[in-house]
Amino acid sequence: MKLLVTGGAGFIGSNFIIYWLRKYPNDTIINLDKLTYAGNLENLKSVEKNPHYEFIQGDICDSQLVNSLTKRADTIVHFAAESHVDRSIMDPAPFVKTNIEGTYVLLEAAFKNKVKRFHHISTDEVFGALALGSSDKFNEKSQYDPHSPYSASKAASDHLVRAYHTTYNLPITISNCSNNFGPYQFPEKLIPLTITNIIENKKVPVYGDGLYVRDWLYVEDHCQAIDLILQKGRVGETYFVGGLNKDVNNIEIVKMILKIMGKDETVVEYVKDRPGHDRRYAIDWSKINRELGWKPQYDFADYLKTTVDWYLKNQQWWKDIKSGEYQNYYKKQYA
Ligand code: NAD
Ligand code: DAU
Repeated sequence: MKLLVTGGAGFIGSNFIIYWLRKYPNDTIINLDKLTYAGNLENLKSVEKNPHYEFIQGDICDSQLVNSLTKRADTIVHFAAESHVDRSIMDPAPFVKTNIEGTYVLLEAAFKNKVKRFHHISTDEVFGALALGSSDKFNEKSQYDPHSPYSASKAASDHLVRAYHTTYNLPITISNCSNNFGPYQFPEKLIPLTITNIIENKKVPVYGDGLYVRDWLYVEDHCQAIDLILQKGRVGETYFVGGLNKDVNNIEIVKMILKIMGKDETVVEYVKDRPGHDRRYAIDWSKINRELGWKPQYDFADYLKTTVDWYLKNQQWWKDIKSGEYQNYYKKQYA
């Protein structure tokens, strides 16, 4: 395959590029990334000299650039997005621009250049919130009901992708997945924020009552799911990808991390809640399991330990991030 990966210098995109080149060394990858605050070429050190890999710094809203790169690809895997809910509450503008307009620009180029597959990475957040304590789960038939500027922009992008399939017959697939975690995740998200704050002897901020529930997916399992969808998924279809079978709430996760790291709970600080905070997400991932044979490889607790180990061993990686613009963001967010 000749892949054009967007947002490949971010958390999931960089894990995907490393995964793909290891598994399919004869394929080629062009990584188009704007290098926003979330993009980091340090993530890709292990592949930067690989002759099958090329990095292009650029914006997915730049139609000329996107068109020229699409001519050299048969498959687009679209990760690029503004991805953090709290930042979307502070300033929705880049979310609307990149997540909606950027996806439109890519779809146009994909259609014009007749790509064989456009795979769009989306999120479970577009379906709104489930009730705490219920056994309901999101599935491929769930109604869209986004609540944050981030999830609204992702919902719009999903609709555009589907519209290009229905109207122009563009060969698309979509995956809506849950909260990813693992190596190279920017330390603004709950799990890396908790681990790195503990290492730095800082308080761990928990929003509201801490009883919010997310589904958690190890990033390498997610990469494998995308791989299966690209190889065997049915064109036009959406696949849900999740990692858990039972609810684990935020405060339980923080306590699990504290236990792995041998610390007590006095570092937990309950802080002001996120406006519009969705109570609970849960994913029914039976379709991808049934049709493509996908399932998570290991347990959440094992993956959490692996992730803590990674952040302990790679302190320079996240310390460089936390010393820059991040400080201003942190002060503003947790003031
Ligand atoms: P991330 O924020 O770590 O990385 C996003 C990447 O996109 C960065 O490298 C950034 O530089 C790049 N980018 C941003 N705007 C761009 C633009 N205009 N042009 C080109 N590149 C641009 O995000 P992530 O966590 O890796 O998420 C990747 C995708 O997966 C996103 O589409 C996100 O909505 C989706 N997703 C993420 C999660 C999660 O838990 N992280 C869960 C579900 C879905
Ligand atoms: O569900 C998939 C989504 O997961 C993706 O679409 C998003 O791109 C990704 O950022 C993530 O969104 P969340 O908002 O769920 O992730 P975050 O790590 O920001 O928060 C996870 C939970 O932890 C959520 O209930 C809010 C809470 N939280 C988060 C932070 C940053 C805290 O309690 N304290 C915090 O400091």
